[in-house]
Amino acid sequence: MLTKIWRVDPTAGNLEENAGIQEAATYIRDGEVIAFPTETVYGLGANALSDNAVKKIYEAKGRPSDNPLIVHISDFQQAERVARSIPDAAEKLMKAFWPGPLTVIVPAADAVAKTVTAGLKTVGLRMPKHPVARALISAAGVPIAAPSANLSGKPSPTEASHVYEDMNGRIAGILDGGPAGVGVESTVVDTTQDLVTILRPGGITREQLEAVLGKVASDPALKDKKAQPKAPGMKYRHYSPKAPVELVSGGLQELKQAVARAKETGLTVGVLTTTENANVFKNLADVISVAGTRADLATVAQGLFHALRRFDHYDLDIIFSETFPAEGIGEAIMNRLNKAAGSSKNDGME
Ligand code: TXA
Ligand code: MG
Repeated sequence: MLTKIWRVDPTAGNLEENAGIQEAATYIRDGEVIAFPTETVYGLGANALSDNAVKKIYEAKGRPSDNPLIVHISDFQQAERVARSIPDAAEKLMKAFWPGPLTVIVPAADAVAKTVTAGLKTVGLRMPKHPVARALISAAGVPIAAPSANLSGKPSPTEASHVYEDMNGRIAGILDGGPAGVGVESTVVDTTQDLVTILRPGGITREQLEAVLGKVASDPALKDKKAQPKAPGMKYRHYSPKAPVELVSGGLQELKQAVARAKETGLTVGVLTTTENANVFKNLADVISVAGTRADLATVAQGLFHALRRFDHYDLDIIFSETFPAEGIGEAIMNRLNKAAGSSKNDGME
């Protein structure tokens, strides 16, 4: 299949009339799969009301069929078509954080394709903030089901070139709207329980959720590796470069020693580090990938997946990574790094 690429300036006005977005929207209505930018990562979208269209997403990604997709909408009326009911807590969160990087799990309406929910009675809803995503959904006139636009198991794409690497020839087209802003995916919260529960930490922090709701719970599987995650996708190994990743806690000295020891045994070594520390590895590591600055963890979130993907352009034996405080956006960063390091009981792929 020929994969078309449309470049779209997200700051231009009247995007719904943009020729590329119009053409991409036509493909969506015709049941094809289109990659598009969101403010978190690029998504792989299809008409959420069509089982046949949604099946093509699973095929293109190589995604296990038990892993449900998030439905992306561009206005609040669409939420009422996709949800059977909207719990009070969900409504509060939608008002506070939409459009933005938050996915709320709510009871699913019958109109939602069964392949979207993977047989669950609930559905994940998200109203993205990215102007290209919003224009595409409005122009298509249907809610769009979309996982991250990576091949299963790989780091999520934050640039159109990452999508091209994984999806060229597998989908109808890619809308290139430049780099995604947040860099890690949306926070997924279950609003069907008494206490709103974080299933996947992401772009909206726990602290932000608690400012609106008071206390929120966490899926026990986020801490306890033996527990079964409530978001099916969280049980899979994910975000992994080809070479094994090892997280080094402690500090810079510990990381330096780990790299030095591996070099002594003759290994080819990559290091995932920050602007503050990169220099230390200059004559030590074979490949240095800088995610961002420790002074502002939002930059680390932004650059994390690009930094992880870069390693695959080299032939490495092992990658060592810095660790970060798991607070604020750091919670999502550490969750993704732990997954990249292969900490999951299943060895399937998302
Ligand atoms: O930022 C994002 O959320 C990106 C962009 C494209 O919007 N999308 C994304 O989708 O990360 P995906 O499919 O890669 O991750 C969705 C996660 C998976 O872990 C999935 O299992 C979980 O959300 N999920 C989806 N529907 C669910 C449901 N009904 N119940 C529990 N978990 C659900
Ligand atoms: Mg994903």
